[in-house]
Amino acid sequence: MNTNLSAARSGTFRIGGDIEVHRLGFGAMRLTGPGIWGEPLDRAEAIRTLQRLPDCGVNFIDTADSYGPDVSEQLIREALHPYQGMLIATKGGLARVGPDQWIVLGRPEYLIQQAYKSRRQLGVEQIGLWQLHRIDPAVPRDEQFGAIKQLVDDGIIRHVGLSEVSVADIQDASRIFKVATVQNRYNLADRGSEDVLVYCEQHGIGFIPWYPLAAGDLAKPGSTLDRMAKRHSAKPSQIAIAWLLKRSPVMLPIPGTSKVAHLEENMAAVTIELTDADFTSLDSSSLARRA
Ligand SMILES: NC(=O)c1ccc[n+]([C@@H]2O[C@H](COP(=O)([O-])OP(=O)(O)OC[C@H]3O[C@@H](n4cnc5c(N)ncnc54)[C@H](OP(=O)(O)O)[C@@H]3O)[C@@H](O)[C@H]2O)c1
Repeated sequence: MNTNLSAARSGTFRIGGDIEVHRLGFGAMRLTGPGIWGEPLDRAEAIRTLQRLPDCGVNFIDTADSYGPDVSEQLIREALHPYQGMLIATKGGLARVGPDQWIVLGRPEYLIQQAYKSRRQLGVEQIGLWQLHRIDPAVPRDEQFGAIKQLVDDGIIRHVGLSEVSVADIQDASRIFKVATVQNRYNLADRGSEDVLVYCEQHGIGFIPWYPLAAGDLAKPGSTLDRMAKRHSAKPSQIAIAWLLKRSPVMLPIPGTSKVAHLEENMAAVTIELTDADFTSLDSSSLARRA
């Protein structure tokens, strides 16, 4: 292994207090076909990308039953089972009826069926981290949370995460089970979940920012991010990952790709040492853009 590229350099976090992972993980949504539907266009490269993860020190993968659907979980199993110390986190609660179509479905029987299916598909005794993809507004919350509690009590899942939630949602769910992680859209250009991140820090909850590479306008030529990337001889996307890692010790970024070359490029973000001044200048340029 090229230790320079090891995710171990990103530091560690204990999910639910007992499953230790390297903070820089991998998102497995983009491995599937267009529209997050069906088999990948280049299946061999998708498998190669997954098999490269242990060499890169990645031991935390994020997936979902709905990616493909099923295809992402199946590829992960084919490439990496029996995982040897890796945590494969999955999700349930979105039904798929076609490419790019996602339907929130939080009926308790559906959540339970899908968690059993993910467990079988991944080939594990227990899912280390299972996340509710969305809280379904059409189903009483206590029915959704009750089904999840039952999955924990029955040993099907060990820890529970939520996705796209507010602080009030986390507090509501915490009445029924311990919330181990929260997965919300968050990146240098999208700071809408800042209050949720702060709450997670205060309560030892892992914060998994999805869409971590969307630097958008901030990455344009001449922007703060672009200038900083040049100074560090890096790509803007690598600076965006380095900024996330420095932002909080509970931050667990999961940049996703279907290509080995992009994986290695993203991993190289662990070699970038942002100074406090770099961090502050990125932070204020991003917040100024929001104001
Ligand atoms: N909880 C939720 O609701 C939710 C929603 C969306 C995503 N997620 C999770 O978050 C993970 C990450 O989110 P995301 O995939 O939307 O965003 P992302 O990781 O910010 O971006 C992925 C995109 O960037 C490209 N890319 C990656 N590395 C690159 C590089 N070095 N150079 C150029 N392009 C690069 C990928 O294409 P290539 O394949 O061509 O590299 C892909 O199209 C997903 O895999 C999934 O696990 C969760």
